[in-house]
Amino acid sequence: MSTQASVSQHGQGSSERDLFVAAMGHVAAPVAVITTDGPAGRFGITVSSVTSASADPPMMMACINRRSPAFAAIIENGCFVINMLSHDHVGIAENFAGRAGAFPAFDFGCAAWKPGQAGGWLLDGALASFDCTLEQSVDVGTHGVIIGGVRHTCLRPTMTLLHFRRAFHRPEPVLHNS
Ligand SMILES: Cc1cc2nc3c(=O)[nH]c(=O)nc-3n(C[C@H](O)[C@H](O)[C@H](O)COP(=O)(O)O)c2cc1C
Repeated sequence: MSTQASVSQHGQGSSERDLFVAAMGHVAAPVAVITTDGPAGRFGITVSSVTSASADPPMMMACINRRSPAFAAIIENGCFVINMLSHDHVGIAENFAGRAGAFPAFDFGCAAWKPGQAGGWLLDGALASFDCTLEQSVDVGTHGVIIGGVRHTCLRPTMTLLHFRRAFHRPEPVLHNS
């Protein structure tokens, strides 16, 4: 679908919000499962709105709907782990988006985990895990931006998982370096 076709298909009679949502659906995004544990309990949630915020010092941020129980738990526990998913983690992404499959929704039994230093859980086989303490949270519309100081990073270079056009993908190079 061309950009023009997309705009005209969603543009006429659509609200700015619809156009915004449609446009963001065409933007490829990484997929992560954010976990937390502590006095408020153990929670996990699938998110795409995750990015690094700073390297000096290392900081990460993510946007979570404030109605999600995971958001309240992160605020109370004061810690979280951002687990960047590999291309073979679609089932885990679905599970922590609240979709039951081989396991009930939000079931930590769907994967193997190791305890992090700050209190969350590191996913075995994740492309990268960022073990964070909560530094700040900022309300933005319906969501809260959680900003974490990275205490420890785990890297296992593998193919990332992307989400766009309402489906999971893995990237393919369009230009090979010689
Ligand atoms: C690929 C993908 C990306 C998502 N990204 C976010 C996100 O960035 N922030 C968020 O609050 N929810 C995000 N969600 C939705 C939550 O995972 C979902 O709403 C949450 O797990 C609660 O599920 P429920 O609404 O069925 O209770 C995403 C879901 C999927 C499948």
